[in-house]
Amino acid sequence: MVGRLGSRVLVGRRCVDLPDLLAAAHARLGDVALVSPRLRGLDLSAIRDLRLCSVGVLGVVDPGDEAGEALLRQLGIRAFVGPDAPAPDLYGAVVGALAVPSSTEGSDETEEATPDEVAPRGRVVVVWGPAGAPGRTTVAVNLAAELALDGREVVLVDVDTQAASVAQHLAILDEAPGIASACRAAEHGTLDVTSFARLAPEVLPRLRVLTGLPSADRWPELRAGAVERVLDVARLDCDVVVVDCASCLEDDDELSYDTVAPRRNMAALTALEVADQVVVVGAGDPVGLQRLVRGLQELAGREVEAGVVVVNRLRASAVGPRPTARIQSLLERFGGVEDPVLVPLDVERVDAALLAGTVLHDVAPDSAVRSAIASVAAAVVR
Ligand SMILES: Nc1ncnc2c1ncn2[C@@H]1O[C@H](COP(=O)(O)OP(=O)(O)O)[C@@H](O)[C@H]1O
Ligand SMILES: [Mg+2]
Repeated sequence: MVGRLGSRVLVGRRCVDLPDLLAAAHARLGDVALVSPRLRGLDLSAIRDLRLCSVGVLGVVDPGDEAGEALLRQLGIRAFVGPDAPAPDLYGAVVGALAVPSSTEGSDETEEATPDEVAPRGRVVVVWGPAGAPGRTTVAVNLAAELALDGREVVLVDVDTQAASVAQHLAILDEAPGIASACRAAEHGTLDVTSFARLAPEVLPRLRVLTGLPSADRWPELRAGAVERVLDVARLDCDVVVVDCASCLEDDDELSYDTVAPRRNMAALTALEVADQVVVVGAGDPVGLQRLVRGLQELAGREVEAGVVVVNRLRASAVGPRPTARIQSLLERFGGVEDPVLVPLDVERVDAALLAGTVLHDVAPDSAVRSAIASVAAAVVR
């Protein structure tokens, strides 16, 4: 860990290992971390943590060590210096590394994209909704299917850290590698379009799925930097990435600046941050509608725009006669939502799809519930 004093570079601390380096970064014992590709445990999250501490990162690579440099590049490091660099070169490299804008949002990844990643990128559509199982996954799965049926290349990604269920909805084996493997590869700098394709099987024509965590207690594996990288790689090779995420958006602890600790809600927050469009799903009953209005306020507070609002499981028995008109006027008054998509409760058809482990198009192509979700797809690509 080094710092700059006038025209000199001062060593702030010679760190013995990665935890030592991260501690030094938190204590701001320097401005730039010099890291070798041989540093044990160095991964995407560690680099992100350093940058969140406003510490620049400089790779120290032996001349000719192309593999080492490539590894560091995969982790987003763009500045390098040799171990025996003469003083002026070292000084220039440190100053160059300082100049890398420190980011609290991870936007540096985009700025530092490698040439193959400047290619056209698919849109990221995040399906979010408040607590209480309003039908986020049902909408996400069928929305993804409708987009694929419409001729688009789609990747459905489950980043739910509370109750992932895309795999169950589509009857994909629990053992499928999914998001945990993708995040691990992202952390180690080995996730690219090819390795992503191996992790996300095609379940329907043009629809590939990266399944969620097989058990919720593995949520610490879904760290923000890795989730961001997974979505970035996913969008390189498709037209639309549909993301299913958990409902809770609160900062997990008061020490939200304690960036090193993993936080459970970061997967959803990261997805919402990188989203090109957000589909918000609420349940069509008094409890669900109240949560939906609150949820819309919460998103607005985070400066996330709700592009499409869906009221799911709509039925007159829970909201009274003429449910459509009622809900439209209620959402307009309290949520400022003008044209919500209303999806009826249809236990028979939705259960049939769930039982068969497939999408509504396969079991009930002419149903109102399917065509309502198809209109969400139309709104998303409008
Ligand atoms: N429109 C609907 N009609 C009937 N059942 C529905 C409908 N939407 C969702 N469901 C059912 O509600 C339950 C929760 O849906 P799910 O999509 O898993 O919720 P979430 O992802 O929000 O937790 C599932 O059993 C699903 O089949
Ligand atoms: Mg779900």
